[in-house]
Amino acid sequence: MHQPTAAAVRRTAPGLALLVAVLTLVSGCSVDLGGSAGTPGAAGMRDPYFPRLGNGGYDVTHYDLSLDVDPTAARLSGTAVITARATQDLSAFNLDLAGLEVRSVTVEGRPAAVNRAGSELTLRPDRAVADRLRTGSSFRTVVSYAGPPRTVTDADGSEEGWLRTTNGAVALGEPAGSMAWFPGNHHPADKASYDLRVTVPEGRSAVSNGELASRRTTGGRTTFHWRTREPMASYLATVVVGRYTVRESAAGGGLPVITAAAPDVDGASAGVLARIPEVIAWGEKRFGPYPFSSAGAVVGRRGDAGYALETQNRPFFPGPPDTGLLVHELAHQWFGNSVTPASWRDMWLNEGFATYAEWLWSADHDGVPVAESFERAYADEANWAFPASRPPGPADLSRPPVYGRGAMVVHRIRLEMDDDEAFFRLLKGWLTAHRHGNASTADFTAYAEKASGLDLTELWDTWLQGGSRPARG
Ligand code: TRP
Ligand code: ZN
Repeated sequence: MHQPTAAAVRRTAPGLALLVAVLTLVSGCSVDLGGSAGTPGAAGMRDPYFPRLGNGGYDVTHYDLSLDVDPTAARLSGTAVITARATQDLSAFNLDLAGLEVRSVTVEGRPAAVNRAGSELTLRPDRAVADRLRTGSSFRTVVSYAGPPRTVTDADGSEEGWLRTTNGAVALGEPAGSMAWFPGNHHPADKASYDLRVTVPEGRSAVSNGELASRRTTGGRTTFHWRTREPMASYLATVVVGRYTVRESAAGGGLPVITAAAPDVDGASAGVLARIPEVIAWGEKRFGPYPFSSAGAVVGRRGDAGYALETQNRPFFPGPPDTGLLVHELAHQWFGNSVTPASWRDMWLNEGFATYAEWLWSADHDGVPVAESFERAYADEANWAFPASRPPGPADLSRPPVYGRGAMVVHRIRLEMDDDEAFFRLLKGWLTAHRHGNASTADFTAYAEKASGLDLTELWDTWLQGGSRPARG
């Protein structure tokens, strides 16, 4: 039901507003005009590829999620406690949730009306609560939900969301799958800290981002409490449930390294996972301090997913990765997870740099000069299908130009600078400037010009944005 806001009433009927004000003074109580002074938050964040992804009007600061997963991981019931700060005076706001049944919703402890249209939930708190949802104020929303979580098919046909495995399930969320297992503001621009409590049958594991805060077994069920303190974009949230061999060790400086492997890939992944501390030490030398308070990896079976994903703290791999893929996903902890794209158009800031990290690793460890990796990428037609920073549509976000052409842009900057020390200072400076934040292509091009002291207009116009393969020059 649509009700006019107090502001609208005031605008159209000044006489009525005056009467209301007089009545308010006389009676000493407020007169309910059927809406707060606020307006509804937008149903999306106008992402160029997914305009309805995320929501406007608020910023989530913390998710406290409790999930109860059944033995086959086919059903879950959950409670999401979402702490957010209003960025406008709100009369209503949206959350993204795909599938699952909403059982109840409260805002600031009071039941809120819920309207559902596809994956958009509109929450309309009562007048007394809405009056408190002023710009800058912090408020708490609790959503109870249950059902069979969905597998979501991306524009490019790949599967994400909740993926059942022979072993249980894995949740993967790039670009839009996390709404299949918890309600929230599912755009990368809204990062938050997380507590995740997952209850599974005793004998199964639940492994997620961050660090394990506690683990308790009662009545044949075990609750794993994972905590992520550093800001995390929701597409990087993950949980795997099932039988896993979990190991904890430490990298340099005592950084906890937590790995989990499905039993039948545990042996085959031991060798590559043992290199995590070495890759992180190398990354710190190249890119600066590792941005998170723990590291690791999760290795599932080959068929568990169609791709690896850089889930925060511990990337997910469907089967044991080779070293190059491990380096790629660990490089994302700096490029993508700490410095996160402002929109999905900026995905090359993730993939171009993670690909460049692979080239750097090969140069440092396998004697393959970066120039050779560049030549190979340059010769590959697939990298020239479109500009790295302008994939034609959502189906193109994970296509070669975003990776290979993106990496070539990075290398062209290095060649233009002609000073390796200054170039690596630029990479570190970029990561420091936007650590735990979001950044756009325009942020990057401006930063690169400032840090290098060069006018790079031509480089952007050709290597980054140009319609065809430029001459090497
Ligand atoms: N972004 C992931 C990486 O680079 C890969 C990835 C995620 C992907 N989703 C995808 C690749 C869909 C192809 C299709 O590690
Ligand atoms: Zn990647």
